[in-house]
Amino acid sequence: MNNSIWRKKPMHMFEQDMQKSELKRVLGKWSLTAIGIGAIIGGGVFVLTGTAAHFHAGPALALSFIIAGIGCIFAALCYAEFAAMLPVEGSAYAYAYGTVGELFAWIIGWGLILEYAMGAMTVAVSWSGYFNKLLHLFGVHLPATLTNDPISAGALLNNSEGPVMSVNLPALVIVWFVTWILVKGIKEAASANNLIVVLKVAVILFVIIMGAFYIDVANWTPFIPEETLVKHENGDMLPAYGWGGIISGASAIFFAYIGFDAVSTQAGEAINPKKDMPFAIIASLLICTVLYIAVSLVLTGMINYKDITGDALKAPVAFAFDHVGQPWAVFVITAAATAGLLSVMLVMMLGQTRVFLGMAKDGLLPKFFAEVHPKFKTPWKSTILVGAVVSVVAGFTPISLLGDMTSFGTLFAFTMVCLAVWILRFRDPNRDRPFKVSGLNIVAPLGILVNTFLILNLGRTAQIFAMLWLFFGLFVYFLYGRPKSHLNTRE
Ligand code: ALA
Repeated sequence: MNNSIWRKKPMHMFEQDMQKSELKRVLGKWSLTAIGIGAIIGGGVFVLTGTAAHFHAGPALALSFIIAGIGCIFAALCYAEFAAMLPVEGSAYAYAYGTVGELFAWIIGWGLILEYAMGAMTVAVSWSGYFNKLLHLFGVHLPATLTNDPISAGALLNNSEGPVMSVNLPALVIVWFVTWILVKGIKEAASANNLIVVLKVAVILFVIIMGAFYIDVANWTPFIPEETLVKHENGDMLPAYGWGGIISGASAIFFAYIGFDAVSTQAGEAINPKKDMPFAIIASLLICTVLYIAVSLVLTGMINYKDITGDALKAPVAFAFDHVGQPWAVFVITAAATAGLLSVMLVMMLGQTRVFLGMAKDGLLPKFFAEVHPKFKTPWKSTILVGAVVSVVAGFTPISLLGDMTSFGTLFAFTMVCLAVWILRFRDPNRDRPFKVSGLNIVAPLGILVNTFLILNLGRTAQIFAMLWLFFGLFVYFLYGRPKSHLNTRE
């Protein structure tokens, strides 16, 4: 028995798992692409664009989107090569298990919890914010103790004199709604997702086309403002603009790109994964990159980046329309963001349960996570558990930190996938690769460099918490995963 932390899952075991899979294969290439777009377009583009323009890049925000998009495309190409070769549920976790080794795979799986479960929590709280805003537009005002976690409500109601009895009810309830869709079936989830994707792409196109009529080219001049210091909300004066600002802007808006990799968690449910997974991963990323670049050009053309301050930073796209005398657009954009965030949550939670499913099938997590419902054919117990944890955290925790931790988990997975796909080219050069990245010797190291660089640019607190989370994962691995791994017996 090989007891090393570097032991790998042999390829034939992946093939056996695929043949035994109980999941229904119902997802075609456009459904898979919609899953990618469903996870990508969310709060990021509607919120972070303002922050990134005002504090980092100015009108050159589009260049920040291009740079972050390039970092993602390297990772996406590597994901695509892997997803076509190993079309199994579990995504980056499974890829690392087949190539680098069990401990690496475990740490990636553990890191993906930061991306998917924590991503779902962050998005649930953002959703609650948008939902509340929508209610306000209809004149409905819920009490602060029903729309905030105890600490945020305390700060709001009695000037930080400590937490009060409070719950973010919309965040809590929406997670249960998403959980219910996911338990009922992947097909239902995909249909709900398709509908929302059509809606949010339509609104993004609306922003681009309608907004284009209000562009004032004076707002783009100079396109790359000279580097200077800008006052942040906490009073800090930090460098902005110039090429440095464009690069820090790329880190700031990275969250907006998270999600295309979620496609790779759906391999177990894809009809023709070897062909359709690479297509969907790359197509969803490219479509969103083009939309994002266009939105950022329109936004910085409609309103001067210097004027995106205060409340405008919370909803810059809606604010831009208000600014040009079209306040009704605020309603359209708020409604679209509310619906749009729902599908981000859907795909994040879907991804999380499929990563758990992969880990449980390998014995690294309890069987509970791999139990598939006899009728719905979904990992229902795991879905309900993930729903319960996400809803409680979203309902009761202030989560300003979680956005950066989500980015950490994602960038970490991207880096590891670039590394793993590169290693496998050397270890097993003759393996059948239905999708083969050309120039991998350039693409993979660039992917590793860009993504590591973006990790180093994240907030210090998030970096520390994320590292602590990964260390905690090591304990769980040595106490549970390693002794229970199926490789102990199947080898
Ligand atoms: N990319 C997703 C969003 O912007 C996570 O909400």
